Amino acid sequence: MQGLEVELAGMRLRNPTMLASGIMGLSAASLRRAIKGGAGAVVAKSCSSQPREGNPNPTVVEIPTGLLNSVGLANPGCAELAEELGRCRGEVPVVASVYGFSTREYAACAQVVERAGVDAVELNLSCPNVEGTVFGYSEELAREVVEEVKRRVRVPVFAKLTADAGDIVSVAAACEDAGADGITAINTLRAMAIDVTTARPVLGNRVGGLSGRCLKPVALRCVYEIAEEVSIPVIGCGGVTTGRDAVEFLLAGARAVQIGTGVLYRGMSVFRKVSMEIAEYMEEKGYSRVDELVGLAHR
Ligand code: SIN
Repeated sequence: MQGLEVELAGMRLRNPTMLASGIMGLSAASLRRAIKGGAGAVVAKSCSSQPREGNPNPTVVEIPTGLLNSVGLANPGCAELAEELGRCRGEVPVVASVYGFSTREYAACAQVVERAGVDAVELNLSCPNVEGTVFGYSEELAREVVEEVKRRVRVPVFAKLTADAGDIVSVAAACEDAGADGITAINTLRAMAIDVTTARPVLGNRVGGLSGRCLKPVALRCVYEIAEEVSIPVIGCGGVTTGRDAVEFLLAGARAVQIGTGVLYRGMSVFRKVSMEIAEYMEEKGYSRVDELVGLAHR
């Protein structure tokens, strides 16, 4: 498909679709499936310095408007995951997502995955499912993490933020100021479901993160506002399922889009399908390069 290539913080993506962190990204095999399904880049599941078992079951529940998860960052630890990531280098950029309970832990994990040869690091500053500081709620804390990680690694660093923060735009601006190479907006939103039969919260952790189609208008608003404020690339994330969704994010100012829950709705080939649908839109409207769409809605 011609004209879909994009440049993102120095990386060449064959198309603007990326696997979002959290969906299938714990093994080289699952990342390769997303690559085979047409993803322009893949983001692995967030890893921490030590292995984590995650939250008690149930950790995922489908609701009519999307999905709730409270996985709790279950992962084998950054050293083990880094080995997996090293095995799928080459075909498309591989991005590691790192999480820390402290600035130092973020930086240490970022160094481990960089040594494994990943193309970029995404800082998960916004997980709603673990006890501890959500660094992305605060401009100062987000700035501190980005600055420290930028001191330690040379690969591009993206900050993944949440609309649960009081002012996501100011947090994004602080991350840019601290040297971030891009902003991913947005992570899931804190939410819950209650089982009326048992009269208890459905998720084992009671509260979890909401993803899927219902998130799109919120994510789109965040991308639009962040793109007005920062000059680093913005990666849209939240409810992208179709090419039309992706086009909306591009018009709002995103350079690329991440797809997570959309994989559940349309299968692993969602990346190819969305790319083809973007190409169809471009042909219909007379655009020859996807960059021509980026930010058009700001006129
Ligand atoms: C999780 O593992 O709980 C999901 C990660 C996230 O939403 O940041």
